[in-house]
Amino acid sequence: MSRTRVLFVCLGNICRSPLAEGAARKLARERGLLERFDFDSAATAGYHEGEPYDPRVEAVLKRQGALFEHRARRIRAEDYRSFDWILGMDEENLRDLQRSAPAGARARIALVTEPWGGGRVTDPYYQDDWACEQTYLELEDLVGRWLDLWQEGGDGPAPSA
Ligand code: 4NP
Repeated sequence: MSRTRVLFVCLGNICRSPLAEGAARKLARERGLLERFDFDSAATAGYHEGEPYDPRVEAVLKRQGALFEHRARRIRAEDYRSFDWILGMDEENLRDLQRSAPAGARARIALVTEPWGGGRVTDPYYQDDWACEQTYLELEDLVGRWLDLWQEGGDGPAPSA
């Protein structure tokens, strides 16, 4: 069975998308699905390229048993060809992703909330530690549902983007 390749994207790749990637890696490990998926994350902007996660994110990922090796990077044209899904955190991410999609893009671009009505995942960058924990829990719930969909349908839900 071929692997489903998923890229989580946010503005800086130091808060929301690494929280989503950590949750996805953790859930896939717990569900025995590591052979079925590849997860990565990236930024739409270059502000934090090469940096590790925000320290608050690192603390949450540690506490949740979801820490992984990470350095922030910006999305590249080849990501649109090599990933099956690119999941953004808010409408701004979605617009930026659609605008920079190269010809020949194969990835399906969607909001991480899309199958459940859409809506933004609040950015904890501007908030406190507690907000970071809440965002992790929100993303773990969403990622768990995506894993259910991919496992059920093989191919996931129909995208609207
Ligand atoms: P993220 O959060 O997109 O969830 O990683 C942010 C990180 C950095 C900035 C904004 C949001 N920033 O303006 O530098």
